[in-house]
Amino acid sequence: GMDYPAFFSPALRQRFATLYRGDEETLVENLLAEARLTAPQLQQAQRDAARWIETIRNTKKSLPGIAELLSHFGLNTREGTALMCLAEALLRIPDSATADALIRDKLSSTDFDHQLGDDSSWLLRAAGWTLNLTGKLVAEPDNALHSPGAMLGLLNNRLSHGAVREAIRHAMGWLGNQFVLGTDIHAALNRAAKLGNATARFSYDMLGEAARTAADVEHYYQDYLKTIAATGAANRAHPQLAPSGISVKLSALHPRYEAAQADRVYTEMVPRVVKLAEAAAKENIFMIIDAEEADRLLLSLGVLERTLEQARNLGDWEGLGLAVQAYSKRAPAVIEATRTLATQHKRRMIVRLIKGAYWDTEVKRAQERGWSDFPVFTRKLTTDVSYLACAKQLLAAGDWLAPVFGSHNALTIASIRALAPKPEAIEFQRLQGMGEELFAQLQAEGLRTCVYAPVGNHDILLGYLVRRLLENGANSSFVNQLSDPRIPVGQLIADPAAKLADLPHKRHPKVTLPHDIFAPERRNSSGLDLTDPAVVTPLLAGLDASWQEGWRAGPLINGKLLTDEPTQPVYDPSQKSRIVGQVHGTTLEQVRQACAVAQGGFTAWRARPVAERAALLDQWAIQLQGEQTRLIALLCREAGKTLNDAVAEVREAIDFCRYYAARARHDCAPQLLPGITGERNELLLQGRGVFGCISPWNFPLAIFTGQIAAALVMGNSVVAKPAPQTPLIAAFACQLAWRAGLPPDILQLVPGGPEIGAELVKHPALAGVAFTGSVATARAINRALAHKDGPIVPLIAETGGQNALIVDSTALPEQVIDDVITSAFRSAGQRCSALRLLCLPEATADKIITMLKAAMHELVLGDPLLLTTDVGPVIDQAARARLQQHVQ
Ligand code: FAD
Ligand code: 2OP
Repeated sequence: GMDYPAFFSPALRQRFATLYRGDEETLVENLLAEARLTAPQLQQAQRDAARWIETIRNTKKSLPGIAELLSHFGLNTREGTALMCLAEALLRIPDSATADALIRDKLSSTDFDHQLGDDSSWLLRAAGWTLNLTGKLVAEPDNALHSPGAMLGLLNNRLSHGAVREAIRHAMGWLGNQFVLGTDIHAALNRAAKLGNATARFSYDMLGEAARTAADVEHYYQDYLKTIAATGAANRAHPQLAPSGISVKLSALHPRYEAAQADRVYTEMVPRVVKLAEAAAKENIFMIIDAEEADRLLLSLGVLERTLEQARNLGDWEGLGLAVQAYSKRAPAVIEATRTLATQHKRRMIVRLIKGAYWDTEVKRAQERGWSDFPVFTRKLTTDVSYLACAKQLLAAGDWLAPVFGSHNALTIASIRALAPKPEAIEFQRLQGMGEELFAQLQAEGLRTCVYAPVGNHDILLGYLVRRLLENGANSSFVNQLSDPRIPVGQLIADPAAKLADLPHKRHPKVTLPHDIFAPERRNSSGLDLTDPAVVTPLLAGLDASWQEGWRAGPLINGKLLTDEPTQPVYDPSQKSRIVGQVHGTTLEQVRQACAVAQGGFTAWRARPVAERAALLDQWAIQLQGEQTRLIALLCREAGKTLNDAVAEVREAIDFCRYYAARARHDCAPQLLPGITGERNELLLQGRGVFGCISPWNFPLAIFTGQIAAALVMGNSVVAKPAPQTPLIAAFACQLAWRAGLPPDILQLVPGGPEIGAELVKHPALAGVAFTGSVATARAINRALAHKDGPIVPLIAETGGQNALIVDSTALPEQVIDDVITSAFRSAGQRCSALRLLCLPEATADKIITMLKAAMHELVLGDPLLLTTDVGPVIDQAARARLQQHVQ
């Protein structure tokens, strides 16, 4: 299953584990020690870079590049994001009506003219003019048209001429095409034959990544095979040109290229990669594995290892390689791992050093998933410095590694040139559509170059295009700053190591750590990264241990388990005969007793300051976090949750505690109301009395905890009735509450079925009910409450329904598939928010349905405690029978 690749020594495993989310301050100190250039090296680098930059800036161009377009329309402006959205979506929209609607939406609130100023070259002006003109056509600011109806009429008129739409489509096609060498490999090879020479070559990349279906994989795989053959033939046909090769994205070669599916990836994908490697060796072309998201890194090393083991007939081929991302904290360890692999297999390997293209994704993911820290650095400067440290490591690595350097940054390139003992032997690489002018100068100065050349059509360009637009549009990136004449050359060639060394804090203060994203209000819950063997191995061991514990539940009154009634077994829904634990029944008398105890506890609890009550919820959160392994084990066994769902649920329970604590601190602070002189009016919220909290089995921890936490923190006491399917987890959560210091007399547990719930709702002490479950039960509770004498008892009910997802034709089909699968099948489709009804546009429905079926085919059903499982069991036999009946 999922683990470090077998060739990792214990020391290397340790290095990967500690670096992954390592402390940036420490890591940067080490980097600074390793990355420094000598004074003469630095001077030479700065001289070269300054010369190149000045030449580029002083050359009058007939055609401005993408970088100039995007540095004018920055991503922090409405115009920039409008442009990006149009480029991302417009060309895939099949129907004119939707295309027009998108254009109208994106252009009507923008002002491209203003963004342009007057120093722009003709194409920029033309592009701006086109967009501006169409923007005006779309949102006529004419005084005569102040009524929305008149405006809309005009819009529809003009757009329906089609010319506006076609002009914009054309512009967006142009934008995307800048980054592509050809729509198929033959077109690309023809173009390359004209552009290449003895020291300038190409690395073809077949566009397409993150395959969702077996059909996509087959298509991409065949594409790569054809490309290898065609590239080999082209190299032979043009012996005067430097030989070209290919780049491969492994995510295109398996529909489930993810850590949890490692076994499948190794058995199903490796044979394909082996075939590609053998073909590349036969043609004697290089084949470099691209670096993708951080959680796929170990998997890619595992694939490389197996490829080297299993491939036959590689001869003395030295063309296999991989890209290493310098923004990654693990970069030096990846280089070390590659060297180990090359040495062990006695085969020289290529390392393509690049900075990394998925920074935004990595940062956002870590924040969302509550990881302890980021896998990437948080300052652009650090990435630059890390790149130099890695370059020095590579240049000193000896014969087994052949480094090549991908960058568009003049100073980075000049620094490598200054560091290299034999610069003329070093190859510098750029991406198609970027860095042309810089690389023309490298060529002129006798340096070797290579262009990473994507091949394919617009359908599959998307992911790639968005990364390029982000890269060109980001105001931190070199290409963007180069095109901004306001930025002086001195700033572009400043030594990153010296700048970084001068900073008091190496971590960027505005890239918020995952735990602090809700600060100062509350702390974010910690997640578990189930793609990291350093996390998964101990987790699985802990889960095994918890499973042997023999859980017990029953009425918990005043903190004590009452055992008057006999026990019933609680079954594991994924294996009907397996008993997870035992639950004692609750008598009606015990329900009344629970209410009486809770009423007794109420007055003292209400009198405690809100700060104390909130602090106790925070303590409850700490207890839940501390016991997360046992909670996960119980969620999997008692409720059939998959590991991922269980981790998410524990986090949600913790977040509820902290969220309600924070709300209460805020909402319960006494508010001074206006009053006449001499009078003081204060509004103060306080507890009502005993709350009945009735929760469902589909989120047996999170909803259970959330209802109770909200009631308690406002100064109420609680009698909780969990669903009969999930008493064990409820009992454990209560124990953790008491362990956290919540008084036993304010929280009682009465496990049982509808009759227990009915008895609870009926009780005269009850001052409120929080309920989550079916509409029918909510109605029954409502009626029961209405029948009671005395003050009206509030009911807070959350029920299920038919949830629809409406897709329009601007949507990327792959994204639709991901969202549908998550929403319909995570938690085995049993969440109240689960997707029930999918509405698709005629124009793209067939394609999406075919793809969705194929993606569903890739889902793994099974035991939820296995990492490989995507969909666990439904909660019980009755639920299963209902589903089967529906299918029939
Ligand atoms: P610069 O502007 O000097 O640097 C940009 C870098 O800084 C980016 O990596 C960006 O993420 C990083 N950065 C920006 N802000 C921050 C911050 N706050 N903290 C930390 N870092 C920050 N990318 C891949 O991911 N995988 C590949 O396999 C891959 N293959 C490539 C192959 C070639 C031949 C080339 C030329 C590029 C490849 N890339 C790949 C893309 C590459 O990562 C980007 O083009 C590159 O990052 C741009 O670096 P630069 O030196 O040109 O620009
Ligand atoms: C990317 O696809 C070039 O591999 C790099 O962004």
